[in-house]
Order: sequence, then C-alpha cells, then structure tokens
Amino acid sequence: MQVTSVEANLGFTRPGEVIADDDERGLKRAISRPLDAEFARHNEYRRCHIRDWSAPDQPALNFREMGFESISLAHNEPLQTLLAHIREAGEITPPEARQLRRHLRGSVFPLAHGKCLKLLHVAPEGLIMRKGGPNGLKVDPDVAMGEMNGHDVAINVHGDQDVRGTPLKQMMRGFAPWMFRHQTPGGSNSLSPLVLVNLWIPLQQITRPLALMDRRTLNAREHQLRYALPTESFLDRTEEMRMNDIWTFLHDDAQQWFFHSHMAHDQAYVFDTLGEPHGSFILPGEAVAERLYLQLQLLRKRLAAGEAVERPLAAVAELPADTTAPLRQAIESMANLVATAPVDKVGQPAVDVWLARAAEAMDSVVRKSLEMRVVALLLPNVWPFNRATRA
Ligand SMILES: [Fe+2]
Repeated sequence: MQVTSVEANLGFTRPGEVIADDDERGLKRAISRPLDAEFARHNEYRRCHIRDWSAPDQPALNFREMGFESISLAHNEPLQTLLAHIREAGEITPPEARQLRRHLRGSVFPLAHGKCLKLLHVAPEGLIMRKGGPNGLKVDPDVAMGEMNGHDVAINVHGDQDVRGTPLKQMMRGFAPWMFRHQTPGGSNSLSPLVLVNLWIPLQQITRPLALMDRRTLNAREHQLRYALPTESFLDRTEEMRMNDIWTFLHDDAQQWFFHSHMAHDQAYVFDTLGEPHGSFILPGEAVAERLYLQLQLLRKRLAAGEAVERPLAAVAELPADTTAPLRQAIESMANLVATAPVDKVGQPAVDVWLARAAEAMDSVVRKSLEMRVVALLLPNVWPFNRATRA
C-alpha cells in the first residue's frame, strides 16, 4: 500500500535567533552564523507531517498559488540521456553543464490553470549537483565543495533569494522587484510575467527527498526571516557581493508540506527562487538504510582486497510503518546482499558479481539532484506564447 504521508523532522530557525531588521522594511531577520561545525545548533528540528503529492487524493500542484509545481522532462530524449549519465557518474562536468543549459533554454512547459513556463535563460552561477547519503551519511567525505560538485543536501528550510537583496540588487541595480514576479513580506509583484525559478531535477531521491511548502499556508510577516548567507566557501564573488541575501523560516503548525516518494529525472520541480520555502529531510527507515550501506561498504572493501570476512548478523529491524515503498524495496535488496555476501568464496568470480551488485544497491540510496536558476516567462498556454524557441 502506498504511504501517503510521513512524519519527519524539518530544520527551522530557532525563535531565539530572530532579531529586528535594520533597513526599515519592518521585517524580521535571523542572526547570520558561520557555516561551521556549530551551525546546526542554531536550528531546531520540528516534526512535520509531509504529504506525498503523488499519492491518490492529494491536491494538484500549482506554481502560481503554492509556489511550486512539477514539469515533465520525459519527452526530451537527449536530455534524459545526459541526466542518466550525470546520475551514474555522480558528478557534473563543465561541458555537461553547458549541454544541460542548451537543452533547457527556450523550452516551454505546461503548468496548471492554463499557464505555461518558457525558460529564457539558465544562469551559469548556481548550477549545482547535490549528493547525500541515507540518514545524513556523508558518502564522499574527502571531496571538497566546488562551484558545481561536492555539495551536500540542504538540511534547512530556506528560500533561495531576496528579490531586494544581494546579488540581485547589484546585478539589476535595484530594478529586480519591478521586473520579477514575487511575493515577500516586504511587498509583492503579481503583475509581471517574468519569474525567477529554481529548476530542481531529482537524479534519484528515494532518500533525503526535497520538501516544499504550500505557500498559501505561510504567514510570511511572522515566519519569514531575512538571512545573510556567507558564500566564500563555494562562490568566487567580490567583497560587496560576499553575502547572499536569502530567507529562512520559523516553524508553524499551520504550514503544509509536500514531497514525492519516487520522483526520478523524467520530472522536475519548478519553484519560486524568490521565497518558496524548501529543504531536504530524512525519511523514516533511513537509519536502517544507513546501517546496511555501511555494512556493505565494509564487506566490499574486504572482499575486494581478497581478505577473509565474516558475514554480519542480519540487521534489518522492523521498519517504521511510514517507510515509503521505494525505500523499503532498496532496504530489502541491501539486506539480501548482506545475507548472501560470498564470504567463503574469496578470490572466485562470484565475488566480482556480488561486488558490482552491492555497489549498485549502495548507490541507489544516495540522494542525487541537480538545481539551477532560470529566468522564465509565465504565459498563457496558447499559441504563440507556448511556442518553444530551441537553440
Ligand atoms: Fe535552495
């Protein structure tokens, strides 16, 4: 039976971190903290009810009102081939990033309520790949964070950009709020067809999925906070643009959250870069997936080195009732591989087969996603507005 919702922790700003903003917009701000080992202490994890929008009887997504929607990428075969390749490689190269932008530029995607989204420009900055192991496990602990690769998944609920803040303020000389459609505690623009969206492509996400808030359930004045994020660890910017003005959020019981339990790269999210609250979370059952991942990792290391190994004791405890079907399946295959590890066949061909299957099973529980910023037009889904202008 499909799990229609899960109870899981989302990371919010602690109420004690809130200060008054000093730029006379009457807004609230959260204290900026360095991105160090202490960073997580300034957040609080709150239990949230997160609904799987792919389950029956869930509301249809709607970019204009909810702040996010899904689009289909299935029809674009060269794009699908490219995404499959990036997923397998576990990283994106600069030529692949250029190809990806070329495939998307000029594309038109239908949205709810007779609208469509035409992608005009995919920004070179901000195109990143994220990877995260089950239950918060770091899968590539030695890989340094670069401009596109080596990013862990985002653990905190946030909104990516303040339309009145850095860097949009400098890049557009203060005109961004007039040009881009937006909705913030400091003012809105619901007339412009020009939008700044995040295009978020899940390469695989049966663990650490993205949660997005139905923006109609957000009390922005009370719970949306300005936040200056230091960027020097991953972006090469001038001193004036060193801080990125983003949003963080306080938790409130009225907020409604959504995720998708088995979304792959034939679909993507588009969501409002200028404030849609989103963040990743750990699904019920991921602790078991992590344990099996580590057992398989150790077995692989020893068997590949031709060392004698002992099979660990069966580790699958009872899974939480709201473990999603794809995660349950992945856990079962990993448990099966642990149970059938060829411990008495060291040096025989059966070991190679098992090693390959174990590597595949471990990889399947690593969350991988691509995200990029796109300038797009929100138009009526009728000709000639919905005509694609492919490069
Ligand atoms: Fe984000």
